[in-house]
Amino acid sequence: MEVCACTEEVEVLVFGSVIVDFVAYAERLPKAGETLHGHKFMTGYGGKGANQCVAAARQGAKTAMIAKLGDDSWGSNYLQQLRKENVNVDFVEQCQGEATGIAQISVADSGENHIIIVVGANNLLSGNDVEKARNLFKTAKILVCQFETPLNATLDALNAFEGISILNAAPALVATPPELIKAATIFCVNETEAALTTGCEAISKLEHAKVGLHKLLEMGAKNVIITLGALGAVYATSADPHKFIHVPVGKVPKVVDTTGAGDAFIGALAYNMARFSSLPWHQLIGAANQVAAYSVQHPGTQASFPTGQVNKGVEYAWKEF
Ligand code: RIB
Repeated sequence: MEVCACTEEVEVLVFGSVIVDFVAYAERLPKAGETLHGHKFMTGYGGKGANQCVAAARQGAKTAMIAKLGDDSWGSNYLQQLRKENVNVDFVEQCQGEATGIAQISVADSGENHIIIVVGANNLLSGNDVEKARNLFKTAKILVCQFETPLNATLDALNAFEGISILNAAPALVATPPELIKAATIFCVNETEAALTTGCEAISKLEHAKVGLHKLLEMGAKNVIITLGALGAVYATSADPHKFIHVPVGKVPKVVDTTGAGDAFIGALAYNMARFSSLPWHQLIGAANQVAAYSVQHPGTQASFPTGQVNKGVEYAWKEF
């Protein structure tokens, strides 16, 4: 069996999805059965895993990705792109006869989106890939996983890792296996995903988010972060389960495209956790909020992520709620 010979210290290891985005921009999102004229189209590099990895790399993290691509031209181009982004791709494999994952994305002028993914080669990621990269699993500081690749492989990855792991449970499942919720150090979702995962009603206010945090802790999460778009993010920990913290984000002048903002948040969080582990959580989350806020003001997914830190050295506001 091929075993990782990587010697360079990896700060952020991403075990997850790589997808090519096909993005159509229109005045609004279509209703069921409706055809709309759009005003712009672009292809981009996406997939929650790769987005998070690239977001971390652009912040300055040493990153590595474990992922599957198709053996088509999309896959070859994507591999090149990850190299350009300084991501270690020793364990990104182009699978023979498989298609690279794709996402069909619609973005409204308000910045809202709809996404359908057909994950293709991503479905081949397995526990074997964890085993092959075991040196990386031993040495990386932060592991990041999502739900666009097979769940049993994600569970193997989380269980094999001894550092801090961040599970972005997206796209959300109605019945998330409890062992996945329990396996990660940090369980991170947005407001829609938190509602789906917990069965709570829509989470649009801080009070709802408190219920979501509480339920996720009850479901076995060790630490929970819920991102809330324009409201910033909230978090809670099982070590102090009645304390709920809100880290707001400054007002954004104009939202252009929210696609990938959650991934920008996760990538920046992973970078900050790897690099500044002694900082309080509200600082780490505040910095990640800034990167997500930057992303929504620019079009595209990875195309919208900043290079370098945003608002370096700022003291972020937070409050108990
Ligand atoms: O989170 C945004 C991402 O979701 C897109 O890049 C798309 O590929 C889907 O994975």
